[in-house]
Amino acid sequence: MTHRDDVFVAGGQPSVTYVQREEEHIERSFARAVATPNQIVSLSGPTKTGKTVLCRRILGDRQYVWIDGGQVRTSDEFWDKVAGELNIPLEREVTKGGETSFEIEGSVPLVTTASGSKLFSRSVTERQRIASMSSALATMLDQRIMLVIDDFHYLDDEVRTTIMRNVKGAVFTGLKVILLSVSHRVFDAIKAESELTGRFTAITLPNWSKADLAQIPRLGFTELKVPVPDALITKLCDEAQESPFLMQKFCWEICFDNQIEEASLFSKNKIAPSYSVDDMLRRVSNDAGLPIYQKLSAGPQIRKARAKRPLKDGGTADIYQAILLALAATGPKALVPYDELRQELNNLLVEQVPQKHEITSALKHLAVLAREFGKGAAIDWNDDTREVNIVDPYLRFYLRWQVRKP
Ligand SMILES: Nc1ncnc2c1ncn2[C@@H]1O[C@H](COP(=O)(O)OP(=O)(O)OP(=O)(O)O)[C@@H](O)[C@H]1O
Ligand SMILES: [Mg+2]
Repeated sequence: MTHRDDVFVAGGQPSVTYVQREEEHIERSFARAVATPNQIVSLSGPTKTGKTVLCRRILGDRQYVWIDGGQVRTSDEFWDKVAGELNIPLEREVTKGGETSFEIEGSVPLVTTASGSKLFSRSVTERQRIASMSSALATMLDQRIMLVIDDFHYLDDEVRTTIMRNVKGAVFTGLKVILLSVSHRVFDAIKAESELTGRFTAITLPNWSKADLAQIPRLGFTELKVPVPDALITKLCDEAQESPFLMQKFCWEICFDNQIEEASLFSKNKIAPSYSVDDMLRRVSNDAGLPIYQKLSAGPQIRKARAKRPLKDGGTADIYQAILLALAATGPKALVPYDELRQELNNLLVEQVPQKHEITSALKHLAVLAREFGKGAAIDWNDDTREVNIVDPYLRFYLRWQVRKP
């Protein structure tokens, strides 16, 4: 019988609760893009919207090499990794009678002598790199193995461009390359630089609708034979911040708290009438959003202490804390217009609402801090539309349950 851990999978590959998102035709368009010859497929979408899950699902048991952008720093490392995944032997170092020789299996051994070692060993490494890259490409082409680079945005600009130049030729002769990234901006840059315009099929994952999110508890609780009132599902959808990850997490927590492990034949599984969903949400929000919130509320490092302003509810807040409180007070919404933010600051602070330039400067700093913190920006300030975008669902969730005044 299926265990709750295999039903609600937060952070892994769900099967029972996998949602196809049919209305958006996402699976079909992605599958079509992957099938189209001589194209590099890019899949972008906000963090935790299901890029990795969708890609693994569509690839099924086809052959691919999967590289995580977060785990390689240089293009050399990248090709070594690809070669490693393909079991292509790397250079071997063997010492024979005082001479060190580097051998690449299947090719001519290259010998270094004590006198010329430095220069020569560099060229050996060079040759070995090229060997690992070209044999990797040849193997993938020959055996029809695809190349997937997940979290592509984690790589440096330069590394991304180099890798794209490296694969360009192979793509034209049939290599399939799939790139996953939180932002489509990285692809625009590459297309321009590596003359790959017209060779990209870009797929963007839209945000999750409440109807799609609702499928997760419906599928999962049905599997576990747990009756769930519609009102509860609606509430979970309202609180999931468009994130399937959060929805999976909520459902798992509900099971755990109610001792639901596996489907029971005697319909013993149920959610206690006294069960507090709010308590669960508060607890989960703390785990999910605390690190980024702490980083943002501390503001950029400065030597002297920042001015504190008194709050109507008591206590004080510096400009960063005040802005986060004001954003939380909007709901928080994912997009907060400047005027609304200012209005909320007015409602919060006893007097002296910060000046316009002070607020916008703090917003810009917040965006920089957010970018430093992790992949993509958790929060962003758009100077043209004059809107704050709280991109990260976890941050919104944290602001909603931990920061917003009840
Ligand atoms: N189609 C889906 N159906 C049900 N749950 C899903 C689906 N897609 C994603 N999820 C849930 O969301 C979680 C995050 O998905 P995934 O890791 O694919 O997101 P991502 O966009 O790759 O995130 P990141 O930006 O961190 O790489 C999954 O572990 C799963 O719990
Ligand atoms: Mg991913």
